[in-house]
Amino acid sequence: MEERTEIIGSYHILTYGCQMNVRDSEILAGIVEGMGYVVTPHLEEADLVIFNTCSVRHSAENKVYGKLGQVAKLKRKNPDMIIAVGGCMAQLENVRKRLKKQQVDIVFGTYNLDELPQMIAERKESGRKLVQIYEGERDMAENLPSSRNQGVTAFVNIMYGCNNFCSYCIVPYTRGRERSRQPEHIMAEIRDLAGQGFKEITLLGQNVNSYGRGLEAGLDFADLLSMVGCIDGIERIRFTTSHPRDMNDKLIHTIAKEPKVCEHIHVAMQAGSNRILQLMNRGYTREHYMERTQSIRKQIPGVAISTDIIVGFPGESEEDFEDTLDMVKRVRFDSAFTFMYSIRSGTKAASLDHHLPLEVRRQRLLTLNEVQYSIAREINQSLVGSTQEVLVEGWSKTDKHMLSSRTRTNRIVIFYGPESLIGRIINVRIKEVTTFSLFGEMLQVD
Ligand code: SAH
Ligand code: SF4
Ligand code: F3S
Repeated sequence: MEERTEIIGSYHILTYGCQMNVRDSEILAGIVEGMGYVVTPHLEEADLVIFNTCSVRHSAENKVYGKLGQVAKLKRKNPDMIIAVGGCMAQLENVRKRLKKQQVDIVFGTYNLDELPQMIAERKESGRKLVQIYEGERDMAENLPSSRNQGVTAFVNIMYGCNNFCSYCIVPYTRGRERSRQPEHIMAEIRDLAGQGFKEITLLGQNVNSYGRGLEAGLDFADLLSMVGCIDGIERIRFTTSHPRDMNDKLIHTIAKEPKVCEHIHVAMQAGSNRILQLMNRGYTREHYMERTQSIRKQIPGVAISTDIIVGFPGESEEDFEDTLDMVKRVRFDSAFTFMYSIRSGTKAASLDHHLPLEVRRQRLLTLNEVQYSIAREINQSLVGSTQEVLVEGWSKTDKHMLSSRTRTNRIVIFYGPESLIGRIINVRIKEVTTFSLFGEMLQVD
């Protein structure tokens, strides 16, 4: 008989930031469910509220502080409620100082997920506020429980941390040094996901191209992709994110030849001016970026390239910004996440001179978005009438009567169809497009 854990209360997790946090929240859910907590969709009913936070921009932190204020009010009504704050904010000392003064019971770091049960127990027993942070080197614990939403696609970590220290970025300080997971752990996790019926996996790392550095196994990211490509049941493999500096030919060949690896590469450009790229400590030039993306397009027919771009970096002149627009027009990105530079205390760029006024940064972002959106629309427009192979992921979030699916090139296609198609790969014909999505009709399915 299956052993049952006694129910000890309900939990609610608030997740901010990137896919790493989405994945960590699944692990946190698995951990607290193992203790006997059951999930509640209603924050106000929860006995345990976990904030899984992001520090990449101050606006992300401010959202958390705002929400913490709300939850503190709930705690006044229900003093037994436990509030735990984890994720990237927890790693920062100035944030921890501020949290000390707030209604927060537990603060745990990005490498301390496995210690949460102990901390919750201790908090209940002693009533003391607790903080647990690993500052040094530590491997992420393996074989932690995990509560993934049953579905079609899943995230799998292949590495943690980052060694790049781009001058604007806080991530190397919140996630520590780059560490690759052992390939056998990754393979076991993906085989297990295949067994549970997942069809697509996305391999996660801040810089997946440097996977394998420091591992005794002596393999690189391209080798890992080929290994994952052999797992039965998994039909599509994605990965994010790639660093332009480490995008080598072997990897491009592997993406081209492995049938399960999707034709979509997210490779952050950040800026189009060599002077700014250098100030950002990105380690490549615009010429290198252009050459790599041209090579990707040549070797992988139909590939989609997406990117991240920051405008208004300290000292960015009108000319530097024009260089970014010029690159955007030349590369013709299928999609782009565009950001206004936001000063991050603790990073090198924060101490640079010539920070730009908000109005200039805002105007540049608007200009960039105008250019990028019209390119994306044009590319999408060119797909009208074409047939696309899509994996059906579930019901559409915007129209509950329509299905949401994704092309191999990571475009969302919405169409009418029966529930039985969820999890299947089918062909759809594209009828209409917008800047961000495609609308189609399904073709005959047997
Ligand atoms: N490791 C990934 C990026 C993770 S952070 C990569 O290098 O591709 C996600 C994005 O947030 C970055 O690519 C960058 O464009 C943006 N970003 C990071 N710090 C920022 C800051 N201080 N201001 C504005 N945007 C920032
Ligand atoms: Fe940040 Fe750069 Fe690392 Fe990406 S590669 S996480 S932008 S330091
Ligand atoms: Fe944010 Fe941390 Fe991810 S700072 S973007 S949650 S790695």
